[in-house]
Amino acid sequence: MDKNVNVGIIGTGGISGFHMAGYKACKNVNVAAVCDIDYEKAKKYAERHGVARVYADYNEMLANEKLDAVSVCTWNAAHKAPAVAALNAGVNVICEKPMAMNRFEAQEMLEASEKSGKLLMIGFVRRFGNDAAILKKFIDEGTMGDVYYAKATYLRRNGCPGRWFGDKEYSGGGPLIDLGVHVMDLVRYLCHNPKPVSAYGFTYDNLGFNRAGGGQSWIASDSSAVREFKYNVEDFVGATIKFDNGLTMNVEASFNLNVKHDVGSIELFGTKSGAKIDPQIELFTDMNGMLVDVKPCGDTGLSFNGLFENEISHFVDCVANGTPCRAPAEDGLTLMKMIDAIYESAKTGKLVKIK
Ligand SMILES: NC(=O)c1ccc[n+]([C@@H]2O[C@H](COP(=O)([O-])OP(=O)(O)OC[C@H]3O[C@@H](n4cnc5c(N)ncnc54)[C@H](O)[C@@H]3O)[C@@H](O)[C@H]2O)c1
Repeated sequence: MDKNVNVGIIGTGGISGFHMAGYKACKNVNVAAVCDIDYEKAKKYAERHGVARVYADYNEMLANEKLDAVSVCTWNAAHKAPAVAALNAGVNVICEKPMAMNRFEAQEMLEASEKSGKLLMIGFVRRFGNDAAILKKFIDEGTMGDVYYAKATYLRRNGCPGRWFGDKEYSGGGPLIDLGVHVMDLVRYLCHNPKPVSAYGFTYDNLGFNRAGGGQSWIASDSSAVREFKYNVEDFVGATIKFDNGLTMNVEASFNLNVKHDVGSIELFGTKSGAKIDPQIELFTDMNGMLVDVKPCGDTGLSFNGLFENEISHFVDCVANGTPCRAPAEDGLTLMKMIDAIYESAKTGKLVKIK
């Protein structure tokens, strides 16, 4: 029988709603309290979701509540402090991606987790997608042979989310740390988490903030909030990362780029076959002296239906039953090392070794 898990949520913005839905889907979870520096926002959120207690300060929440776990759903600059405070208070943590602003913060968070013996899971939600499960099975069963080259692409034509996402002081960077992190982690996860050894990267900020309005619901709805933040991140990044098992990964990510369509795709090239998630899964190989394309039956594209529920129920399972974590802090730190190396390379124009 699963033990009951008492949860707090820190940061009650967009993504926290997905964590809340995930917790609500778990029979053994009680979301006891929520916290946001914007107290009125947190209060409304608590009312909407039937949460009993509201805080503006996570230290107060950690001191007053008997929590087993917290979700850290704040902007990137406010991941480290609440995560470390919770771990030091003996509380398990799931922290949204990217793990932190840089590898130094990530290292501190990992050390807090090791010292406290509490779990620090990173919200690499793509690891819990239906598409990842299908492709991982093909790779794990040997259908692809050795995967030696990968392309991780997340391009938006006109898609900076605005607000803090464009302000380096709050975000740590632009599409690399916000979007690239998803696809870079997914490739690494599918390929059994090899160790990165070097990165060469380049960033541009030629187009700036979104050039056209319209349509995207995730663009800041509150114009006064837009004015509070600066816009000073890259709008496009490209990079090549080499890994210790011989894998080379090319990454492209943008908030703004003169590309025809937005692209979110993963391509893997192995000795026995290649594969693509774009968004459906397809494999490319040869059979009986012929080149063949193999398409698994049914819908294999990433479905958001149940995606965060899978991630949160895994976190709860880890907390309640000690199940080994599929998105541990070590992988968050590795991603931060890759991101730091790409930004450093873009600044210096040199290849950067990753230790
Ligand atoms: N997994 C995904 O697919 C995904 C999608 C979107 C966002 N995210 C990540 O989730 C995080 C939050 O993004 P969002 O879109 O929800 O942002 P948001 O701006 O909607 O919400 C962030 C909230 O954090 C609050 N906050 C900031 N500092 C705080 C502090 N010290 N204590 C308490 N509250 C604080 C803000 O007031 C705000 O309400 C980011 O790290 C982002 O990268 C992940």
